[in-house]
Amino acid sequence: MCGIVGYVGEGDAGQILVKGLKRLEYRGYDSAGVALMNGEMLIQKGKGKVINLEKNLVASKITGKIGIGHTRWATHGEPNDINYHPHLSESGKIALVHNGIIENYTSLRKKLIERGRTFKSQTDTEIIAQLLEEIFTTSDISFEEALQLTLKQVVGTYGLAIVNIDEPERVYVARKGSPLLLGIGDGEMFIASDASPIVEYTNKVIYLDDGEMAIVTKDDYQVKTIEDVKLTKEIHELAMGIEEIEKAGYPHFMLKEIFEQPRSIADCLRGRLNTSDSTIQLGGLVNVMEELVSANRIVIAACGTSWHSGLVGEYLFEYLAKTPVEVEYASEFRYRDPLIGKGDVLLVISQSGETADTLAALREAKAKGATVLGICNVVGSTISRETDAGVFTHAGPEIGVASTKAFTAQVAVLTMMAIQLGQAKGHIDNARAAELINELDSIPKKVEHILNESDESIQEMAKLFTYAPNFLYLGRTYNFPVALEGALKLKEISYIHAEGYPAAEMKHGPIALIDDMMPVVVIAATDHTNDKMISNIEEVKARKGRIISIMNDGNSDVKDLSNFCVNIPSTIDCFTPLLTVIPLQLLSYYIAVNRGCNVDQPRNLAKSVTVE
Ligand code: M6R
Repeated sequence: MCGIVGYVGEGDAGQILVKGLKRLEYRGYDSAGVALMNGEMLIQKGKGKVINLEKNLVASKITGKIGIGHTRWATHGEPNDINYHPHLSESGKIALVHNGIIENYTSLRKKLIERGRTFKSQTDTEIIAQLLEEIFTTSDISFEEALQLTLKQVVGTYGLAIVNIDEPERVYVARKGSPLLLGIGDGEMFIASDASPIVEYTNKVIYLDDGEMAIVTKDDYQVKTIEDVKLTKEIHELAMGIEEIEKAGYPHFMLKEIFEQPRSIADCLRGRLNTSDSTIQLGGLVNVMEELVSANRIVIAACGTSWHSGLVGEYLFEYLAKTPVEVEYASEFRYRDPLIGKGDVLLVISQSGETADTLAALREAKAKGATVLGICNVVGSTISRETDAGVFTHAGPEIGVASTKAFTAQVAVLTMMAIQLGQAKGHIDNARAAELINELDSIPKKVEHILNESDESIQEMAKLFTYAPNFLYLGRTYNFPVALEGALKLKEISYIHAEGYPAAEMKHGPIALIDDMMPVVVIAATDHTNDKMISNIEEVKARKGRIISIMNDGNSDVKDLSNFCVNIPSTIDCFTPLLTVIPLQLLSYYIAVNRGCNVDQPRNLAKSVTVE
């Protein structure tokens, strides 16, 4: 979704902002803009990609040492030059960029218009600039106080960066519900909505919390609450390096991230799996192990791909730890007054740690007394800071909008949690623990094997299906969520309509779609449902569907029935999602590339969905 960058220092702010905005491109956006202060307020915008803004900026020759920038993902008002950020107050003296949504903008706007203000855009954002200017110019208070009063009147969410031409050395920032952090450099300061634009300049960051604001100059910053209480904030050290947010020779981030999985899964398992004494150590859960062991049930709430990993988690927790699990779309959970409270555990799963619905589900369950745990990839993210405890996936930054390595790392964490809980509850004895932990330890090598052995053949196969209008994905048990994930991957990056189903459900409707034009991807890892799966494949074959099977080496029954096969090494049944998902990621990637789609930034999608 929208991204914010800000700079105060001695460097060329225009260049630094543009570079920062490029680092935020992965979040999804439809325009970009900057405001620079250089004796006057200079605004430059560009439709579409940041490169267009860059060209406009170069052509206009405007420069400055202090400024703010934005990538906009349209919510209020169509994408056009007037609605792109930054937005100005009526006098043109105040410019601001905004992430989030101001819910009461219509009533505020009406009042300001009645008082004689003229609005240029259709956005909810412009109201902040206009209201701020009105409060500031009609009362005898500082700009900072005027900002605090403004923020008390707006209802909704915001990450804000604001410049005022009368204070040419400062950037004001504020946060409620939309992430913002400050990067502390040497004689320069950075502002951003996530760490990626900052990481090449400094690894020292401060995360703002909701209800906080900051006044930033080139060598100082002051953080306080909107109620004017001064705060001393902890300075965090960023663990990520610049190489992690670059493509490293791959044509797309998505492909890089698919191929990173042997390493990202190993990073996720490292230091947590102990093969010598068959134990699992998840440091983040030590203080909540009792609550987990005695939990009536675990409710998992998440969105998109993270919801799919939650579904795998349901099978894992019920099988390995005998704990009942419900998996909820975070957006549905939060709005139906859920029955959850003391004795229940809510586990939220989020790559970004900023997804608005997941965060709201977390807050809802916390307010009702549940223990709230998280599985997150981004250290310092809001979800990771608001949960009672949790586990980081350590997959490294995921830049491609389509989630790949985050999924496998989430499933790896869920697997470790389920084994640890199963041991703690006495459902897994030492011999079984040794078997599970040794096998889990071998998963990164098996993922590597799949990537090496099947990349080329999947690339070839993708050519045959590039123009298929529909796809069906079928799986059973642990691999039903993988079928959903495979279908989501294909539709989001190639725009081909795809559905995932539990294989047995096919007979209850989707079978009507099958003819000789319909590719059916069957995830047929050999397990106790193998015979049933073979019957389902027969049913597809009888209707001339084209069968692509993801199967274990040597499963000749499946092989004989299939038009195309991708082999995966054998593993314990409950670990198969970590392997079966890999060919599906590659298949969707190559189909999307063949169709000329923008793989890393698919249309209409955002990496981090920070609005409801
Ligand atoms: O950051 P999160 O894991 O909370 O994001 C949830 C979904 O928006 C995300 O998984 C989305 O479905 C992916 N782009 C799918 O590839």
